[in-house]
Amino acid sequence: MKLHIRTMTPRDYVAVTKLWHATPGMGLHAADDSRAGILRFLRRNPRMSFVAFDGVQLVGAVLCGHDGRRGTLHHLAVARTHLRRGLGAALVARCLRVLARQHIQKCNIFVYRANTSGQAFWLHTGWSARDDLRVLQKPAAGPARPCRAC
Ligand SMILES: CC(C)(COP(=O)(O)OP(=O)(O)OC[C@H]1O[C@@H](n2cnc3c(N)ncnc32)[C@H](O)[C@@H]1OP(=O)(O)O)[C@@H](O)C(=O)NCCC(=O)NCCS
Repeated sequence: MKLHIRTMTPRDYVAVTKLWHATPGMGLHAADDSRAGILRFLRRNPRMSFVAFDGVQLVGAVLCGHDGRRGTLHHLAVARTHLRRGLGAALVARCLRVLARQHIQKCNIFVYRANTSGQAFWLHTGWSARDDLRVLQKPAAGPARPCRAC
């Protein structure tokens, strides 16, 4: 078995989405995880997302980006056949290294409450839960509220 990690490229899209679809706890989004959505993410965050291979087989993936202040990781996944060999931690370490090089001080991740195994991985590998924060969200393209001030 020869494992290696490299930067994700657009050519990895089919294999990466196959892995994500086979992985529990992913929460895939029709638009964001379409080919166009992923290529947009990779263009905006160049050389920050990673894939892991066993020979020619893609066995791990993670998306990483930042907004100039905080990093975010999405869709960390390791193939069922390759769990608990250090690949998940190694993919995350690569992401944190590129974030640190870009002077990003902290990184966030979003984990579904129901994904208790995913949460256990993050807590075991040194991530802290921010129980003082809630995630609030709104569609960017929804109807705009009329401006009451203008
Ligand atoms: C979470 C996931 C990426 C971990 O991948 P992995 O390659 O098996 O993890 P690693 O082998 O790198 O584990 C690193 C450490 O975490 C521990 N660990 C891994 N999975 C764990 C789990 N579910 N619960 C507790 N500890 C875990 C390992 O034992 C190891 O500990 P050690 O360093 O003390 O030996 C993988 O289980 C997965 O793809 N899960 C489904 C998708 C998912 O939930 N992703 C996160 C979404 S936010």
